Amino acid sequence: MLEISARLEEALNRAFLKVLPKEDRSSKTSSILMGTNLVPASKPEFGDFQINCALSLAKELKQPPREIAQQIADQLQKDNDFFQICNPPIIAGPGFINLSINSKTLISEIHFRLNDKRLGVPLKKFSSEKIEEGKNNNRVIIDFSSPNIAKEMHVGHLRSTIIGDSLARILEFCGYEVLRLNHVGDWGTQFGMLITHLKEVVPEALHTKDVVEISDLVNFYRQAKKRFDEDQIFQNKSRKEVVNLQAGEQESLIAWQLLCKQSRKEFQKIYDRLDIKLTERGESFYNKFLVDVINDLKNKNLLINDQGAQCIFLDGVVGKDGKPQPIIIQKSDGGFNYATTDLAAIKYRLTPPPHGDGALRLIYVTDAGQASHFSGVFQIAKLANWIPTDCQIEHVPFGLVQGEDGKKLKTRSGETIRLVDLLDEAIQRAREDLKARLNTERRSENESFIDKVSTTVGIAAIKYADLSQNRVSNYQFSFDKMLSLQGNTAPYLLYALVRIAGISRNGGNLNVSSQNIQFNEPQEWALIRKLLQLDCIIAEVEKELLPNRLCGYLFELSQIFNRFYDQVPILKASEPARTSRLALCSITADTLKLGMSLLGIPTLERM
Ligand code: ARG
Repeated sequence: MLEISARLEEALNRAFLKVLPKEDRSSKTSSILMGTNLVPASKPEFGDFQINCALSLAKELKQPPREIAQQIADQLQKDNDFFQICNPPIIAGPGFINLSINSKTLISEIHFRLNDKRLGVPLKKFSSEKIEEGKNNNRVIIDFSSPNIAKEMHVGHLRSTIIGDSLARILEFCGYEVLRLNHVGDWGTQFGMLITHLKEVVPEALHTKDVVEISDLVNFYRQAKKRFDEDQIFQNKSRKEVVNLQAGEQESLIAWQLLCKQSRKEFQKIYDRLDIKLTERGESFYNKFLVDVINDLKNKNLLINDQGAQCIFLDGVVGKDGKPQPIIIQKSDGGFNYATTDLAAIKYRLTPPPHGDGALRLIYVTDAGQASHFSGVFQIAKLANWIPTDCQIEHVPFGLVQGEDGKKLKTRSGETIRLVDLLDEAIQRAREDLKARLNTERRSENESFIDKVSTTVGIAAIKYADLSQNRVSNYQFSFDKMLSLQGNTAPYLLYALVRIAGISRNGGNLNVSSQNIQFNEPQEWALIRKLLQLDCIIAEVEKELLPNRLCGYLFELSQIFNRFYDQVPILKASEPARTSRLALCSITADTLKLGMSLLGIPTLERM
């Protein structure tokens, strides 16, 4: 539909020129005509597109709106390209123009998709000019997941992982080269505490592999933090330990590497189960650039010495007391902060190779709680002139994960939930649902089928429940809702695909090559129109980074498909209806599969 709407837009501009030549336009009328005048129809019965500008135009020209609408419609009707695409325009109500695409165009679009792996979604073209400047103008960095070493990944990291992965898949599909960066928290005071504590309680963990599990580490970290807060001597020792580490002392480095390895192994288990690919480039990577960052900011006169700390005060950044709040770039003891590392990371990511990544779009997927951190860091990077005008840098925030009671998600005993347990429970519940269904349907299936289906459904349900919400809002985690076969859920979408696979198993050839396809039923046309919207939806997600738009689209597509499946005979129809309907089934299956794969969700043939 992207190409068709672009062509209609052009035809519309030609019609405007005829109705109101440029020299006759006032500034008001030209601004009306320059706007986006072709919008998707607000209801299916109005056709595919609507033109609403006749009303505002009529007011300016002091003419009856239906008359203006009629003049525009007449000109459109005379336009050769318009005539190829649309049925005659219809004037409705006080002066709206409704457009519907003619069946010839719809059928030829359907034909095209039967042979197009990309299902009509264009691959982005990039000019080579930028690449010569040393920039990769198709390179995007998505900073996501990013858990912290020696701490357990929590549901917030799960959200970041699922949303970030899906955005990466979508942008990759559009044609971008996506660098999926895992900005793990692998540096800082926490290591000083942890190493000091471990030296006393399990020294062997600091030089021998696998002595402690991640859950032990999490506990040790908690104990260390408690001691750090309460015990001055421990605090001093920990600080010294950080200095040793930063100075690259062998023993400390080995301990640090071991701790990182242990955590990494644990994170990887989650990534493997969720099929997530990430490149780890933790905070420690940027150590060597921190001093440069400070010097650069100093040279640009951006730093203010506030009681020994190097700070930046930004307009509008105030603390709870209403007083200007500084962003501390270097602490009075010389140490650096989370923000300093992020500044170094921005600089590195935007600097052309070989000294950086040369990306043109930076995307950060974290909880909304970090919005002011990123807004501050982005502002500083702008002040320091590190962001070239053609580069985009965006924080992609998401809301909290809540239990069904609207409170923070917890176990029954009130502890924070471990991610592995969450995944296991989803799979376990999917298994119980499946067994109950097999029972009522009197089906018998072997264990490997049950394993495969429940694992796929469980993981799909968790991912989809997260992605289908507008990410900005908080989201209520409910196993019952996400596993339901009804509503906007993964099982509902998976089931539509299973139905289509069933048609094929029952003798319907989904490899349609016939040129003779015809459609008569409203359910068919509704399905066709929905199928043709895929390219617009992908373009929207590429811009706005909201995967829930794609979910909403796939859900509506499944609903429209199910209506078609329930109300129109497919295998029992006679030719050419049978082949034509199989063609629609085939494109629906391809669209659902592609859409799900872009969300990072596996699909099934049977369930
Ligand atoms: N490690 C951080 C956390 O757990 C997230 C890092 C996000 N990325 C970044 N470049 N700051 O909250």
